[in-house]
Amino acid sequence: MPLLDSLLEPVSAPDFPFTPVETSRLGQVDFDALGFGRVFADHMFSMDYRDGDWRDARIHPYGPLDLEPGTVTLHYGQTVFDGFKAFQGEDGQVRVFRPDRNAQRLHDSCRRLCIPIMPLEQMREILFAATRALIRVDRDWIPRAPGQSLYVRPLVIATENTLEVRAADAYRFMIMTAPVGGYFGDLQDGVSLRVEERYTRAASIGGLGAAKTAANYAASLLPGAESRARGFEQVLWLDGNEHRYVEEVGAMNIFFRIDGRVVTPPLGGSILPGVVRDSVLTLLREWGVPVEERRLEISEVIDALRAGDLEEVFGAGTAAVICPVARIGYLDATHSIAPPVPGELTRRLYDELTGIQCGRIEDRHGWNLVVPLD
Ligand SMILES: Cc1ncc(COP(=O)(O)O)c(C=O)c1O
Repeated sequence: MPLLDSLLEPVSAPDFPFTPVETSRLGQVDFDALGFGRVFADHMFSMDYRDGDWRDARIHPYGPLDLEPGTVTLHYGQTVFDGFKAFQGEDGQVRVFRPDRNAQRLHDSCRRLCIPIMPLEQMREILFAATRALIRVDRDWIPRAPGQSLYVRPLVIATENTLEVRAADAYRFMIMTAPVGGYFGDLQDGVSLRVEERYTRAASIGGLGAAKTAANYAASLLPGAESRARGFEQVLWLDGNEHRYVEEVGAMNIFFRIDGRVVTPPLGGSILPGVVRDSVLTLLREWGVPVEERRLEISEVIDALRAGDLEEVFGAGTAAVICPVARIGYLDATHSIAPPVPGELTRRLYDELTGIQCGRIEDRHGWNLVVPLD
């Protein structure tokens, strides 16, 4: 059976051994104040790797892990994760946005972090089946208000207890879900970015930048804190060699509309190959908007801004969706993007993507996977 169809198959019995919670925490959740990833649904998925095999897939109550202090992942960061969203449509259908892309990326991340990979097809099947099962058991956790969704977070950690620096021989693959609201609040506001000139997120060649792994996020914490202390919400990363070319933002890929053309940095191994980035590029090309995936110097952005040619700047990512940028701090100056923020294209992309995700707009690309609930 084609893999995508497998998600559409009704499940007559639980796909995995299932231990339900004794008491749901759902009643304690304030759905009007969700934030991002602060509250987790009742159940999660786990599966272990030991003696050369992935085994013991199960669904059980969300709860603490029992780990030895010597666990490899805690010391050497041998861990990968991913993230995608399920949406409750106005028509009552639950749609998951492009999880096949996340399965592929999780697979690639595992390879880079030397985590034993299952065949891609198996990884997809397990990710889909577990997501489907979690959505079915925790269907009441899927928020319904506009802008809200159920965030699905797969995570793989090395669980062997040893201080030797080498790939571990034991792992756990988990999937948790979290009802979430918007990442940055209102689309109207736009975020502020500070161009990072001192620190680097990921090496330009041969590093971890394209993998979704803890080290990239650990590297971003100090620059992120410094940016916030200086009044900016996010870091705009430059390349690791020269600090000259634009790379991406903390949790988003970045797009600049300059003189009618949309420019975004190319995938070269140092930035995350974003699922929303790919979706944006597909839509823009369909709409006939000139698009360039190319290296872009930060000086070109600032020159375009000064010349009045920088028409829009926006980020794209699962958590942030399409997020307008209102201000860019570079060296000692803060530059405001010319109004309106959000710009016309930013808003159109936001409306189109969120419309497709909620089933309001026809899914011409087959991006959504509908999860049957009965
Ligand atoms: C560093 C980074 N870049 C880009 C993205 C956007 O990727 P996606 O569109 O797959 O969410 C994310 C979020 O996952 C991220 O963490």
